Amino acid sequence: MRQNKVINLGNLFLSLSEAVDLANSEISQHQQKTAYICLEISKLAKFLPSLVRDLFIAALFHDVGAISVEEKTSLKNFEEELNLVEHSERGAILLKTVPFFERAAEIVRNHHKPWQEWQLSWQEEVVRASQILLLADYVERLVSHEQYILHQKESICEKITIISGDLVHEEIVGYFWHLAKKEEFWLDLTSPVLYSVLFHNGPLRNYYIDFSELETISLFYRNLIDYKSPFTATHTAGVSSCAEIISQLFGLSEGEVLLMKIAGNFHDLGKLVVPNRILEKPGPLTKEEFDIIKSHTYYTYYIVNSIKGLEEIAAWAAYHHEKLTGDGYPFRCTKDELTIFARILAVSDIFTALTEERPYRPGMEKEKVIKDFNDMLAKKELDETVVQLLFDNYDTIFEYVKSNQKLAEDFYNNIFIKL
Ligand SMILES: [Fe+2]
Ligand SMILES: [Fe+2]
Ligand SMILES: [Fe+2]
Repeated sequence: MRQNKVINLGNLFLSLSEAVDLANSEISQHQQKTAYICLEISKLAKFLPSLVRDLFIAALFHDVGAISVEEKTSLKNFEEELNLVEHSERGAILLKTVPFFERAAEIVRNHHKPWQEWQLSWQEEVVRASQILLLADYVERLVSHEQYILHQKESICEKITIISGDLVHEEIVGYFWHLAKKEEFWLDLTSPVLYSVLFHNGPLRNYYIDFSELETISLFYRNLIDYKSPFTATHTAGVSSCAEIISQLFGLSEGEVLLMKIAGNFHDLGKLVVPNRILEKPGPLTKEEFDIIKSHTYYTYYIVNSIKGLEEIAAWAAYHHEKLTGDGYPFRCTKDELTIFARILAVSDIFTALTEERPYRPGMEKEKVIKDFNDMLAKKELDETVVQLLFDNYDTIFEYVKSNQKLAEDFYNNIFIKL
């Protein structure tokens, strides 16, 4: 039934790209704006459609390797002496986990590589595409959010003259001059409806994927969310596999189990918006800090729900801090609004959190976990059938969740942080 639905790639990637840049108003839509500049230049450079598409994808995700809100924000700053290699390498590693992101990953790896450092010929596609991304990113970082765009275009152009032939090949700068003459270019760049401009004029408009391909993309995001902090580097991997196995034991269909895995991978998507100083705080949070944490599932809902075909998954994913008593956060859902899918996900999130190690405590023993769940059942916060299913199959579920968390941990330790 649900399985044959298809998701539009333009819609999916634009929304996921936006999620990364919601972190701070200074970088809001940075990647989309960069993608817009890349798109316009690659058309002028007469790239083949497949290269226009791969460059567009690379631009939409080019800074995903800057893992904390703080690191992302610092990239906007030209004054700071930055290590630009690290986030480029990490971004490429993350993107490479998706089979059809292969070339986009190479472009991301090289998006800060100066023209003079290239050993390859100028005719190589990866060189030209990476150079366009470098220039587009540079231009976007020069745009101030404080000033009207047409009042700053001259000063931006002056700064581009300085890097021409040095950081960026003159041919690419030439295309940029062509664009920069048009007020339309600058107005599009700061348009409040840029999302729809990119959706309708972008190269992904006619591409669709099915749910098994969506699962691969959700895994890429799962890593992105988890790697924000080494303390929770396998949390989403745990929640997703817990949701999967409980759904199976509950007797959900194969298609529904797949959707639950995807919902699990996206459940903490909104954490991309929460600063690391709060996520990683070892002690108890202040009220103000907890109020910020509360927004993470709001953003999960907002982003996932903006992708046509994922409206149901948005609710399953985003309601994991809601309670049957109506006093969860941030939606204060009532019992009737919490479907079995959302209830399973809430239990999976709690189970994973209790059993995983945190810097200030080890993972909890079975007896203590059962006691905590019983306390929540006594307060009627959780679904009794789901919790009972968990108790009846505790060891099987525990083993499955831990083995998946171990796989995620190996990738994190051996590949992601070891550069
Ligand atoms: Fe970058
Ligand atoms: Fe950037
Ligand atoms: Fe959460």
